[in-house]
Amino acid sequence: MTPAASPRKLGVNIDHVATLRQARGGNEPSVLEAALEAEKGGADSITVHLREDRRHIQDSDVWELLKKIYVPLNLEMALSPEIVKIALKARPEKVCLVPEKRRELTTEGGLDLFFKRELLGRAVEALMKKKIQVSLFIDPLAKQVLEAARIGAYAIEIHTGSYANARGGKREKELLRIRSAAQLGTKLGLRVHAGHGLNYENTFPLLDIPEILEFNIGHSIVSRAVFVGLSKAVSEMKKIITSGKG
Ligand code: PXP
Repeated sequence: MTPAASPRKLGVNIDHVATLRQARGGNEPSVLEAALEAEKGGADSITVHLREDRRHIQDSDVWELLKKIYVPLNLEMALSPEIVKIALKARPEKVCLVPEKRRELTTEGGLDLFFKRELLGRAVEALMKKKIQVSLFIDPLAKQVLEAARIGAYAIEIHTGSYANARGGKREKELLRIRSAAQLGTKLGLRVHAGHGLNYENTFPLLDIPEILEFNIGHSIVSRAVFVGLSKAVSEMKKIITSGKG
């Protein structure tokens, strides 16, 4: 497939809705309702991160979403035997393997594909055997992209956090790093996604990289939803990534 030949996809991460729910330990706000609202706004997939410490998304959320949403579920997860086992049983359409640290506020960097290489290879193989599309969340580094292709992943998700945090010339450099990683990934037959720290402004320059076929965005959309509602917040972002207009 030629890059960006079909409209770009938007994956909406709704972990923050679960964070709000967990703050009071009850059922509000409903993660399922959030997913359905995101679908109404045009989300092409729903992403949830089932963390080992279960700080926001719970196992029951994963099962309920799998039963009740219409678009694919993208399960973000660490390379933890416990969570891999759950994914193999639940069989979401997609998983994205991410690094996970107990004390981080959010995913801080990409997965180092050279660390726990065998375990990673086995997990990817087992997940792909169940027809789950496996994406690897990596920093925009050629050696990581090459390794993702060697492992046989379906996709890479390029960590855009450093780009989002950088300013001026440094941001331009980060953009170049993302562009070359995306071009290499495409050349190697990987589907290229991008995410982390993206918002209603900093997503625009990434639209000039046609190899990026999917954006996964959470915090900025859920933050905007506080003021305009989730379905509108999603549709505004969808318009940006599909038409380049805000
Ligand atoms: N993609 C991945 C792999 C992530 O870990 C996260 C954060 O959970 C996101 C995308 C979304 O990042 P943000 O919430 O900053 O939009």
